[in-house]
Amino acid sequence: MDGLMRAGVMTATGGRGVTARAYPNIALVKYWGKRDEKWMLPVTGSLSMTLDLFPTTTRVELVPDAATDVVRFNGGSAEDVTADRIRRFLEVVRALAGRSAHAIVESVNTVPTAAGLASSAAGFAALAVAAASVYGLCLDGRALSRLARRGSGSACRSVFGGFVQWHAGLAEGRMGDKTSYAEPVPVGALDPALVITVVDPGPKRVPSRQAMRHTQATSPLYGAWARAGEADLGELRRALRQGDLDRAGMIAERNALGMHASMLAARPAIRYLTGGSLAVLDRVARLREQGVPAHATIDAGPNVAVLCPRQDAAGVAQELGAIGDVQSVHIAGPGPAATVCGGEDR
Ligand code: DP6
Repeated sequence: MDGLMRAGVMTATGGRGVTARAYPNIALVKYWGKRDEKWMLPVTGSLSMTLDLFPTTTRVELVPDAATDVVRFNGGSAEDVTADRIRRFLEVVRALAGRSAHAIVESVNTVPTAAGLASSAAGFAALAVAAASVYGLCLDGRALSRLARRGSGSACRSVFGGFVQWHAGLAEGRMGDKTSYAEPVPVGALDPALVITVVDPGPKRVPSRQAMRHTQATSPLYGAWARAGEADLGELRRALRQGDLDRAGMIAERNALGMHASMLAARPAIRYLTGGSLAVLDRVARLREQGVPAHATIDAGPNVAVLCPRQDAAGVAQELGAIGDVQSVHIAGPGPAATVCGGEDR
């Protein structure tokens, strides 16, 4: 609720330039596949934890006389694909706001970009909050999450802090748009950490959008994974409400491995997992044998995030950091909602 209030209250400034910050999220039950590409509607619901690490800070400034949008990324000009996605997103914002002014977008990203660590989620959540504000849209948290979804599906969850569910919604087109939003989920007494284990910080070989389209179109295992995902979602909500982190981790691990299995069965196969990923999975299984309630999840990349109680996180990080293929280890806790940064533009 806090996230919703904060995200909702802070958007309607309508000034010339606004800066917003958002954090990445890691899904415990994944989003993988769309039922409507135009409106960015997912096949299944998903549930994630927003991190308190690797924020993206984005400033959007209106330039009424400019002929096009300018996009800068980490101090340089953005790659064409990224700039195009951002321009298309701004078109959505302008259509909603009934305004035509172009903008300069400057984004600074602290997550290893495109390494399967959800950089686009933080990026589009920050952009949605900043752009909604600067174009004078007055949106509550739910509406902001629907807007962020149009940029990148997983971004709708980064609008909120803590544990967040993205509802698949009903139908397609405009009806689907209204019913497919994110909201915080209630959790019991939990003190969780995600130990992010980077085995390869480089860009992924196949962008997730392309990989999910291919999996959906060609993998005989995709339908089975999606059906199991709906059940996983209900069970995960229950486990979180009961404060049962061990069970939440077990559900997250099976859901992620099922997603990767569906990719491996695609024709031709998509394989993000590397020897390094498998070495981390082996070590996590061994930690469990030793009584540590740790479970792994893996996005569209080789890096592994390990869910465990915060009190075990330093020990888990030390174990995983000792694996030869592991380049760095980061301990994340539940992070905050996306917000406009303090009044420098007012
Ligand atoms: C594996 O949100 O990056 O991280 O909606 O096409 O932009 P688009 O895809 P994106 O996909 C994220 C996939 C995932 C799982 C998840 O975050 O739920």
